[in-house]
Amino acid sequence: MPRINRPPVPHTIDGEDRSLGGSALYVDLIPSTCWGSAARTVHATQYEWQRIRRMVYERAGFTGQRLWRYMRADLPVRGLPHLAHVRVQPDPGEKDARRLEARQDDRLVAEAVVGLPVQGTGVLWWIGVEPSARGRGLGRAMLGSALDVLAGLGAAAAILYVDDDAPPGDERDRRAANALYDSAGFIEVDRLNSYTLSRPA
Ligand SMILES: CC(C)(COP(=O)(O)OP(=O)(O)OC[C@H]1O[C@@H](n2cnc3c(N)ncnc32)[C@H](O)[C@@H]1OP(=O)(O)O)[C@@H](O)C(=O)NCCC(=O)NCCS
Repeated sequence: MPRINRPPVPHTIDGEDRSLGGSALYVDLIPSTCWGSAARTVHATQYEWQRIRRMVYERAGFTGQRLWRYMRADLPVRGLPHLAHVRVQPDPGEKDARRLEARQDDRLVAEAVVGLPVQGTGVLWWIGVEPSARGRGLGRAMLGSALDVLAGLGAAAAILYVDDDAPPGDERDRRAANALYDSAGFIEVDRLNSYTLSRPA
């Protein structure tokens, strides 16, 4: 990769760049980095794209922040337990979603929300276990049941996002969720990164 002369860039990027080539700025920057050199082709795997994107932004003066995980698994995922009793119903807040609930003694102890498959890919939007019921296998069983619901709706793959940018001990501490997804066989496909360029004073 040739040395990058700082390209002309706007002072702020609004929104989030969560896909390859999803940002017009990104698309503009890559040719800029090759301009004037012999290189006219960039070959990169998806993970290399992440590094290139970060390098380009950071050399342009942006500060990068690593945010959410984007994960994927082919369905069916084998070896997961399932809840014996789970209620599946339309999600009150989202018409293209289903809500799963597990109750013990009429108390809600575990829940999940899945998004209906689009072109064979369903989304696990949320999974949660009531704090006093955690660590006893309910989360893993709810994950197994939620993925089964998605497969039953026609999904051949499931994706999910983990908003794990909060520190340990925070309300959004996602260490348990990450361990659960990793051990269940989900693969990290990409990271959502945020890049900020401070305006000169
Ligand atoms: C993530 C969550 C659903 C797991 O539920 P749970 O019932 O405690 O999970 P389980 O008892 O089934 O454990 C499943 C796996 O999670 C991981 N895990 C659970 N508790 C953990 C902890 N305190 N620290 C690290 N990993 C943990 C382990 O990998 C565990 O597998 P193992 O028992 O074979 O080691 C639960 O912690 C939760 O509701 N967290 C808050 C909401 C949340 O983060 N949702 C995900 C949003 S992306």
